[in-house]
Amino acid sequence: MTDSDMPSAHPAAASARVLRQLGRRKSIGAMVADSRIDAEGSGGLRRTFGVFQLTMISVGATLGTGILVILGEAVPVAGPAVWIAFVLAGITALLSAVSYAEMAGMVPVSGSSYSYSYATLGEGAAWVCGWCLVLEYAVSVAAVAVGAADYVNETLRVFGLELPESLTTGPGLAENPGGVINVSALVVVALATVLLMRGARESGVVNTLLVFVKIGILVFFAIVAFTAFKAGNFAPMLPMGAAGVTAAASSVFFSYIGFDAASTAGEEAKNPRRDLPRAIIFSMLIVTSMYVLVAVTAIGARHWQWFEGAHAPLVQIVEEITGSNIAVLLFAVAAVLAIFSVVITVLYGQSRILLTMARDGMVPKIFGVVSGRTGTPLVGTLIIGGLVAITAAFIPLGELADATSIGTLFAFCLVNIAVIYLRFRRPDLDRSFKVPFGPVVPALGALACAFLMVNLGGRTWIVFCVWMAVGALVYFTYSRRHSVVGRLSEQDYRTTVDA
Ligand code: ALA
Repeated sequence: MTDSDMPSAHPAAASARVLRQLGRRKSIGAMVADSRIDAEGSGGLRRTFGVFQLTMISVGATLGTGILVILGEAVPVAGPAVWIAFVLAGITALLSAVSYAEMAGMVPVSGSSYSYSYATLGEGAAWVCGWCLVLEYAVSVAAVAVGAADYVNETLRVFGLELPESLTTGPGLAENPGGVINVSALVVVALATVLLMRGARESGVVNTLLVFVKIGILVFFAIVAFTAFKAGNFAPMLPMGAAGVTAAASSVFFSYIGFDAASTAGEEAKNPRRDLPRAIIFSMLIVTSMYVLVAVTAIGARHWQWFEGAHAPLVQIVEEITGSNIAVLLFAVAAVLAIFSVVITVLYGQSRILLTMARDGMVPKIFGVVSGRTGTPLVGTLIIGGLVAITAAFIPLGELADATSIGTLFAFCLVNIAVIYLRFRRPDLDRSFKVPFGPVVPALGALACAFLMVNLGGRTWIVFCVWMAVGALVYFTYSRRHSVVGRLSEQDYRTTVDA
């Protein structure tokens, strides 16, 4: 009989047992052994990624809807100071990114912050983190696919291939009462799923090409916008006050989500201890520079009030300045490809996180089965891709984009706390990268995340609380009973806790 199955003799004893279950930890050594880190090819994932591909995975998962769509929504909130909102959100992300880098170099496995929490704060925190990561990855990818669908539909329209209204959005949207299914979102997710099932290397090559495409179109945008640059557009800098900037920072934080995607590829990295920290930091530097460049040139090109209600503002600016249909068409197609690379990499990350959780018994085993033929979690990817495709096809996801941010911020908070905890509890561990200034930087990182969480609206908090309540239900009815660590004997359990 396992710890989880024992009948509760007394309420106090039962509570103590639940607390003990929530606090049980998995040793870092056990995680590395689980991932067959030294036994390449023996049923594990294939090690094909160097620092370049890992950086591309993170950039691929990050640059997309945030800058192409959410920038336009943030400008009316912050005014010309929107670039400061990007810098604030970027600093928050960077503070957490260095914590991710330290953890990724120390725990070079596939589960990202879920694994880091399991090794440090215990099973309860790990479950909370894993559940938040579903918001960060699966739910965000559905939202991103819906964003991509807008650009797909726009491109089809340019070619004269307009889809009937009923096929452009799911049901229940005020702006499209006749909507039945978002076919484009469904196709985008289906294509990404098929690609991921073929293999990580193939997906990596496609992703790298797409990253170049999206950096290319953002640089192209900056050059075009710069030709219409008016310094006067920056005065007054803060028409909506500092509160507008912090509110915008919380919403543009969405654009940074994904920099941690490299940390889901620990088991497919050739040299994870060296390359994961580098990839995370390089990708943060690349995306922050791109965001500030695009935000500054966009504001320079158009007065901040112009952005009110503008759809796909970057394409509109290109259209107004160049007057060229070809430039617009190229931009729209490139935007679809850019967002497609977010879908690929974020879906990839979700499949690897669930794979790690399945090994630990937190989710059904099927998510952890790696195909010998493709070296990928074939069935798991298919299930996740299918669920995300259905979600993207039928559910309007406006609120869930913010829910994605709150879930991500919460997971980042836990990673920062985990770094501080391990500095004191396990100073001996081999760290290939160390956050500078000891626990100060991760403490600031946790506070910055908490600050942005507080700035998100009340409805977002309600969605988040409901999500966490469902997560608690799943944990107590399934995961707690199937936990592999929970099934260890008492002796092994002590060894794990002490490791
Ligand atoms: N950061 C990702 C994007 O902006 C989610 O599309």
